[in-house]
Formats: sequence, C-alpha cells, structure tokens
Amino acid sequence: MLQIEKQYVQWQDNETPRRARWLSESNQTPPARIVLVDDQTTADEAYRLACEGTSMLWQGDFHNARQLLQALTRRLERTEQRKVSKAAKSNKPAAHTALIPNLFHQHRQAQAQRASVLSRLLLELEAGYVSRLRRAPEFSAACTAAFGELDEACLISFRDLQGALGAAQWREKGVPIASLELSVFPHYGVFAPTRHEYVQLMLDAQLPAAHDLAFDIGTGTGLLAIILAKRGVKQVIATDLNPRALACARDNIERLQLPAIAVQQADLFPTEPPLANLIVCNPPWLPAKPSSALEYAVYDANSAMLRGFLQGVAQHLSPQGQVWLILSDLAEHLQLRSREDLLGWFVESGLEVKYRLDTQPKHGRSQDNTDPLFAARSAEVTSLWCLQPKA
Ligand SMILES: C[S@@+](CC[C@H](N)C(=O)[O-])C[C@H]1O[C@@H](n2cnc3c(N)ncnc32)[C@H](O)[C@@H]1O
Repeated sequence: MLQIEKQYVQWQDNETPRRARWLSESNQTPPARIVLVDDQTTADEAYRLACEGTSMLWQGDFHNARQLLQALTRRLERTEQRKVSKAAKSNKPAAHTALIPNLFHQHRQAQAQRASVLSRLLLELEAGYVSRLRRAPEFSAACTAAFGELDEACLISFRDLQGALGAAQWREKGVPIASLELSVFPHYGVFAPTRHEYVQLMLDAQLPAAHDLAFDIGTGTGLLAIILAKRGVKQVIATDLNPRALACARDNIERLQLPAIAVQQADLFPTEPPLANLIVCNPPWLPAKPSSALEYAVYDANSAMLRGFLQGVAQHLSPQGQVWLILSDLAEHLQLRSREDLLGWFVESGLEVKYRLDTQPKHGRSQDNTDPLFAARSAEVTSLWCLQPKA
C-alpha cells in the first residue's frame, strides 16, 4: 500500500502567510500556487486557472463551490469530446485492436488529467473538519469516517470532500445484494460491490464435499465470506491488507451476525491456520499501477496479487480442496494480459481447471457505446474458475 506522509501547504491570505495540512486521498501533490476565489469568479476563469495548474482556495458560498465544480466538469468533458471528434475526423481507427493497449493507457491518462484539473478547487477546514463557509453543511462525521480524526486545520479538494460525502451515503444506505436478500455497507476506500454479477457465480458453484474451513483472500466488504457462511461453510477466515477493508468487513459481519467469519489482516493468506477446503479470491481485475490507495482494489501492478495468490494457494489447500478464482477477462480484451498467461500461471502453481462458470456483466458502462473502452467492456465475461491441485 502507498504510505502517505504528512504534508503541509502554505499560501497568502491578503498578505497574511497561512499554513495547513494537505489532505489528498487521491494522491494529488500539494499545490505549488494557490489563489483565493469566490462567488465572483467565473467558471471560465476558474477553468483556465485549473488547466494552468493553479489551485483555487474557495472563499464563497459552499453550494456555489459545488456548482463551480460541476461547471469545470462540463468544460473538461467538452474538451475531451472535441479531442475524440478530432481523432475521428482525422480517420484514426480509434478501436483498432492493435491500438487497444494504447486506448487503455490514454483512458488512464485522461482520468489522471481530469483528477488533476478537478482537484484544483480547494476548501480550508478547521480541526475536526469544520468549514466556516456560508451554507456549509456539517460534514465532520463523514470526513472522520473517511480520513480518520484530524486535530489540525487542513486544505482538501472539493472533489475529495465529495468522495467522503458520497461514501457516507453508501455506508448508510448500503448496496443491496438481491439474490442474498441482504445489503452490504461499504466504507470509504473499500471496493463497493456495485456490479455484483459474480455473486450468482458464487451461489451456483458447488461447494466441495468437505467445507469446514474456507479462506476469502482480499475480502473488501466481506461479501464473499458472507456468501460462504450463508451457504453453510462452518468457518471462514477473511483477509485483507487494507485496514479500511478490515474494519468494513467486521462491520458487515457484525450487522449480519455471522460468528462463523473471522477477519485477519494479512498479505494474502492467513497465518498458520489448518489447510482450507475452499479458498476464494476476487483480485483486482486490471494489471496496472494504482495511482492512489483508493485504486488498490481495482488495479494490480504486474498482476502481483493474482500471481502471488496462485503461487501460494496450493500450500494452504487440503488435498481434496478447491480454489474459486473470480476474474473478468477485461484485461484480455484490453491486451494487458493474455489467456495463455493465466492458464500458464495455473499450471506453474500446480493447479488444474475443474470447471468454469461464466456470466456477462450488464452494468451501465458495458452498454455505453460512447465509453472509449466500449469494445472491450461489451465483450467482457466474468468467470469463476474452479481450480484444484493437479492430480
Ligand atoms: C476487487 S477487491 C474484492 C473485494 C471483495 N472480495 C469482493 O469480491 O467484493 C480486491 C481486494 O483485495 C485486497 N487486496 C489487494 N492486495 C491484497 C493482498 N496482497 N492481500 C490481501 N488483500 C489484498 C484489496 O484491498 C481489495 O479489498
């Protein structure tokens, strides 16, 4: 995981030098240049400043800051759209297969550029995440839940603040998992199972005859461990590296009163338990470098988690045990990993495929033909690979 050190920023407030803690969960570097802006600042002016790399500390009405951020987003989208139209007019074959890895890298670059521009609008918060802005709501509970206690003033981007407020709503209302007739409650910075096509795969796969002990590696909200416990596995050990995920999984397990599940912080496998009959894992699906702690559940640099899992799993499995690996083939469609790579890693790990269950995602982006990655997303298949030690 990325270790974030305390960082501070300085700026001038009408000749008065000011200093505050820099808070950026999206890993934006502390701003080098800060100007004060307010309700009189036009969206065009703010957009120009943000694109030049100047950060803007908001002094006006809280709700107007939200509107300004929306106006910046619209301008950014128009600029992105113009670039796409220009590429289309110049007859560049945007979705040609040979260009697909570039397409993914361009997509990530565009995301990074968008994050950098939209993170230029800043708020100053006093200790305990209190804002003195006109019409500012109370958000210290949401910020404390997301970022932890803070006993000093900070500067934070309005975008990161919105992330914390959005997460607080998810945490309160939960993500309904219809096929299980329950909801899971994601915490800030924890993989939210909003597209849960793999839940049905987990319900359809046949449990091994002996299923006293299972591991859920990289448990996130605890969802897979919860499914196993609900299906009658007597004891489940769920691991994660991310402390936020561990707290979240514990919270969900407690809400559902499932004493069969124990949560452990571990890099992959639990420490020194007996061998498991079943080991499940839903690793991050895309081999790419995470740019902030928030991306560790989605991107796995060089498939390190996937490969580490496959390399170690047989040592933790009973001779008749099974591995259920949940993986989409999006990385294959984006030419970031090949099917041969994956099958080769199974063989190197002493595993063979017992069977595979497939499903096709139906989430919004897989149907959106304006998405630059539409060709890959619309062809994506999510699988549960049932693996066993090679006979
Ligand atoms: C795609 S999310 C899956 C979460 C959950 N199992 C689910 O299916 O909804 C991957 C999870 O793996 C965790 N993770 C990543 N690397 C890990 C490692 N080396 N050891 C344990 N957990 C890890 C991440 O923190 C994240 O919670």
